[in-house]
Amino acid sequence: MCGIVGYVGDRDASQILLKGLKRLEYRGYDSAGIVLINGGLKYCKGKGKVEKLGKMLKQNALAGTIGIGHTRWATHGEPNDVNSHPHLSESGKIAVVHNGIIENYTSLKKQLIERGRTFQSQTDTEVAAQLLEEIYTTSKGVTFEEAIRLALKQIVGTYGLAIVHTDRPDRIFIARKGSPLLLGIGDDEMFIASDASPIVEYTNKVIYLDDGEMAIVTKDNYEVKTIDDVALTKEVHELAISLDAIEKAGYPHFMLKEIFEQPRSIADCMRGRVNPDNGAIQLGGIEDVLDELVNARRIVIAACGTSWHSGLVGEYLFEYLAKTPVEVEYASEFRYRDPLIGKGDALLVISQSGETADTLAALREAKRRGALTLGICNVVGSTISRETDAGVFTHAGPEIGVASTKAFTAQVVVLMMMALAVGKRKGVLRQEQMLMYTKELAKIPSKVEYILEHIDEPVRKISGLFTYAPNFLYLGRSYNFPVALEGALKLKEISYIHAEGYPAAEMKHGPIALIDEMMPVVVIAATDHTNDKMISNIEEVKARKGRIISIMNDENSDVEDLSEFHISIPSTKDCFSPLLTVIPLQLLSYYIAVNRGCNVDQPRNLAKSVTVE
Ligand code: M6R
Repeated sequence: MCGIVGYVGDRDASQILLKGLKRLEYRGYDSAGIVLINGGLKYCKGKGKVEKLGKMLKQNALAGTIGIGHTRWATHGEPNDVNSHPHLSESGKIAVVHNGIIENYTSLKKQLIERGRTFQSQTDTEVAAQLLEEIYTTSKGVTFEEAIRLALKQIVGTYGLAIVHTDRPDRIFIARKGSPLLLGIGDDEMFIASDASPIVEYTNKVIYLDDGEMAIVTKDNYEVKTIDDVALTKEVHELAISLDAIEKAGYPHFMLKEIFEQPRSIADCMRGRVNPDNGAIQLGGIEDVLDELVNARRIVIAACGTSWHSGLVGEYLFEYLAKTPVEVEYASEFRYRDPLIGKGDALLVISQSGETADTLAALREAKRRGALTLGICNVVGSTISRETDAGVFTHAGPEIGVASTKAFTAQVVVLMMMALAVGKRKGVLRQEQMLMYTKELAKIPSKVEYILEHIDEPVRKISGLFTYAPNFLYLGRSYNFPVALEGALKLKEISYIHAEGYPAAEMKHGPIALIDEMMPVVVIAATDHTNDKMISNIEEVKARKGRIISIMNDENSDVEDLSEFHISIPSTKDCFSPLLTVIPLQLLSYYIAVNRGCNVDQPRNLAKSVTVE
């Protein structure tokens, strides 16, 4: 949610910032801007995408070797030129870019206006710039760094901030509370960013700032401190992601690339962890707490969006394979209840980005109450992955498309491995079962590959027939009920078609009223143990002339006969089927969105990583 980039060195800063913003654009794309120090502050910003900013910079080039930039997902104030970042103080000497929300900005702004300051924008960020300037110019003997510390003490809310001042033209100041920031260390140059994507091409040495920390960054040095001015020595991490992983590699969209990467990402997720020869599951990240997890009274899973859907699959998996009671919560609801969780419980948070504000808050709440906390994250070094007691990375590689695809399947694979590991340690799964499950799991990547090779064309054809459908219904049972939810979410977020997912039998309790000859109904009929029941549900749809598109296992003639369209996929164990059934749904939503001319990778109003509440 919003992207920050910064550069100080000897190169043309505007080009580095522009390229960095392009890579960060998946985090927000309402407006973009950069500011450079060169004598005074030189800036260029405006509503619209980074491409537009690029065109503006072509007409009015900015020269300089130090600067900061921002791509915005609007929280305060509509997306327009004035509300775009950077925001300057009244004198035009201080510029600020900001991720997060300043919760007390109304009262701070009121006080600043009463003291004579005038504001240009409706944003909370401008308040930070103005407050900072007021403190710096009115407090005797206070350095700019001290002024930042004093301002931050008055700010309530969350921030990732990058600040420049013409009085200190060789440095960038950054500070973090709640919104991620990292520092990339180059040779005589430094980079700042809200995630690693703009940095990988220049350096793999990074420092992650933690909450309550700030840094002063020059081209050949950095100092990290707490905002109370205590100097810190931070670990320098090595980035493992490559440049290829964050580029489109010939695909028209990141989403399509990421869908087609799934045979590899699923295999990467299992690599070194699933051994079909001896039936073992080895999850190094949770090995030390496995007994505690096995003995947990229950597991509470908290997540948002697609990650919440994978959590729902996890509920079925843990109950079936490990006989462990599981509850799945929306992280946003969990954090504001008075959740009955504590010692003896395990909280498992799932997050692709590892930065989702609600999920992070749920984690902190459960930790405060004494629960064991575990994480499933994709982004190495992310806040959630660093704050959980233990966890498992999905290793799906960077996911850039706003609609989550390969992260979902990787999360589900991790949940499968975890449930198997717990089931085995608990003694509820026998060795021959472990052999059977691990053998089947190991076949999943090639089955996904087979699906992608064989269904792309049929799905594309079906998508053409339903491009302008105003509504869609998705039905699934058991392990595939969450897949129905996920299919509906994918369609609505990238094509803007209203879609709902339901457990198939629940349809009778209301949604059946929607079914007529105009309503496409996607049924996921690839779970053997519910097959007969699913067939009855399909009959119910057919009787009301709904247009049935079924996802079914090869050779299920009953389902095939009832469906107007069917997509056949290979069969697997019921508990692994979400990994296969979700693939056609991802492609269906992708092609429908493309047919409708939607911006698949950057759907309206959305951002990849939701770091505000
Ligand atoms: O990074 P996270 O997994 O925590 O993100 C959670 C949701 O914001 C995310 O899954 C969102 O629903 C996606 N756009 C779904 O495609």
